Amino acid sequence: MARDILVTSALPYANGSIHLGHLVEYIQTDVWARFQNLFGNRCVYVCADDAHGTPIMLKARAAGIDAEDLIADYGAEHQKDFSDFLIGFDNYYTTHSKENRELSETIFNRLSNAGHITRRTISQAFDEKYGMFLPDRFIQGECPKCGAAEQYGDACEVCGATYQPTELTNPVSVLSGATPVERDSEHYFFQLGQFEDFLHEWTHGEQLQEAITRKLDEWFKAGLKDWDISRDAPYFGFKIPGTLDKYFYVWLDAPIGYMAAFANLCTRRDDLNFDDFWSRNSEAELYHFIGKDIVYFHALFWPAMLEGAGYRTPTGIHAHGFLTVNGEKMSKSRGTFIRARTWLDHLPAEYLRYYFAAKLSGRVEDIDLNLDDFVARINADLIGKYINIASRTANFISKRFNGRLSSELDRPELFQEVAAAREEIAGRFEQRRFAQGIRTIMALADKTNAYVAERAPWQIAREEGRETELQQICTTALNVFAQLTTYLKPILPDTAARAEAFLNVNPLDWSQLDRPLLDHDINQFKPLLKRVDDKTVERMMAASSEDLATKSSEPADNTSESDGTSAEDNTIEIDDFTKIDLRVARVISAEPVEGADRLLKLILDVGPLGQRQVFAGIKSAYDPTELQDRLVSLVANLAPRKMRFGVSQGMVLAAGNRPYLLAPDDGAQPGDPIK
Ligand code: 2FM
Ligand code: ZN
Repeated sequence: MARDILVTSALPYANGSIHLGHLVEYIQTDVWARFQNLFGNRCVYVCADDAHGTPIMLKARAAGIDAEDLIADYGAEHQKDFSDFLIGFDNYYTTHSKENRELSETIFNRLSNAGHITRRTISQAFDEKYGMFLPDRFIQGECPKCGAAEQYGDACEVCGATYQPTELTNPVSVLSGATPVERDSEHYFFQLGQFEDFLHEWTHGEQLQEAITRKLDEWFKAGLKDWDISRDAPYFGFKIPGTLDKYFYVWLDAPIGYMAAFANLCTRRDDLNFDDFWSRNSEAELYHFIGKDIVYFHALFWPAMLEGAGYRTPTGIHAHGFLTVNGEKMSKSRGTFIRARTWLDHLPAEYLRYYFAAKLSGRVEDIDLNLDDFVARINADLIGKYINIASRTANFISKRFNGRLSSELDRPELFQEVAAAREEIAGRFEQRRFAQGIRTIMALADKTNAYVAERAPWQIAREEGRETELQQICTTALNVFAQLTTYLKPILPDTAARAEAFLNVNPLDWSQLDRPLLDHDINQFKPLLKRVDDKTVERMMAASSEDLATKSSEPADNTSESDGTSAEDNTIEIDDFTKIDLRVARVISAEPVEGADRLLKLILDVGPLGQRQVFAGIKSAYDPTELQDRLVSLVANLAPRKMRFGVSQGMVLAAGNRPYLLAPDDGAQPGDPIK
């Protein structure tokens, strides 16, 4: 019986670009969804931008645009990135939608009517200058435990202590620099504790990975607390019904966005019905793929909300770990922060899809993108094993047999063996043990290559009277190639489409794995994938560092509701400005940087401050030879930044897209302060 399945990936915030860390999730969900459909189930995959919350509101403000415009821009960028990474959503929507508003109100009203919502007045930090309550991450001060300066209102990054923002010593608002005051306001709370028995049972069923259940047990032990689901104006989100200035907290309407994206899809798909998937007695399956950091929301709040509002609960939560790059946390300062677009500018999407799949085990552990291993793996597996089977045999069929496959196989047992692996491979994919599935697929490719080497068609081709044998050997190899293409198709959908065109077949799926192509015409073989070389990967990494150098005004990760510290106000105080040590500098030498398209390496004379090396993103506008002896403006006290090419000791100022260097008139002396 074919299963009806709805899958989701976590909704990315609409105020930051998609990066490789995000893609660990979208790629695995997409591979899983594609596999389900190829296997014969009906799997629908929806997602959306997570469009509400304080950081989005403030980022739009800082940019001087409406939040609606900001989220529309990011929505378009996200969709393009996902589509270029071959993420095949059935619908990609936004939480700022009519459907989501209606569903959020319905769920809230039902929870409220059933007595699951309570109201009480709480006291919170308020920025009088800015006129708003401050989320924890918008307050900084000294850690109450260790005294470390500039710690956020929720936790200390130095000693690891967690606390209330009111406990900080000398707190200031990150937005205005003002000292926050305490102010009362009424909030709405979802009484999670009322669902303790239900959740305890639910979290000990089949739905969760063991590691997650263990984590939840700790939370149960600590006690389930009421959840504050409201925020005061100003806020970008949905107003709570019956209030004038209270909004749903972004995390209330975000998961409802899964339902809303599906509801929206139902309006244009006659074969899909909302209630079939979401009513309490639904027989469809529902899975959420998420990162390990948002388990609390998906394994506690979300099932409780659904249960309390009379909807079905998820069949499973599929949590995964984070991405490291060359063994290090992905970080802007380490130069290991890779945006989806930077990857696409240099490397094929399918190579990342394959590499991630080859690493994913279905467990909640982090995975590492080791770039040397990446190059070796792609070349060995995809080019050396998989494509090699076709490239060693296809031309004999085109040249000697006019493109026609034989009517019998030379080694039917090999074909049978590859077909027989389909249950095992399907089982691995089903459990999201893609790494194991790929190991099996590559072992079959090894076997097939060994078979081709043993039968050596290139030798047989030189001998007379062995035509039939030659045709049957190549037909065997190409039939296994078709089977392996089917197995890899969830991971490499574009390559599979090109292979199908070469094999002259309708889209392959699991049902044809035991049916060989015999007496069948194929097309001319063209190389389906290219080897990847170290240089290309280096260029991609260099471009990632350059992104940072040229966008150094862009804040660090500011995508989440809880760490949106960068969504600052446009104005600064004079004290802030005078912190910048601006100096006149003279260019001693300027030269291009190998492997960096946009950077020039400048050696600057800063008078009494000595010489500085600075990497500047001005190559598009300046011939390095013309820069010698020019005066430039330098931010001299910028913390040195380690880049792939060396340390950058400051920043030169430039304007516009070209960009134009901001240059003092002749007469200024190196080292002069700019005032
Ligand atoms: O953590 C995040 O990036 C959130 N935007 C995920 C939301 S997932 C779902 F609940 F909407
Ligand atoms: Zn501390």
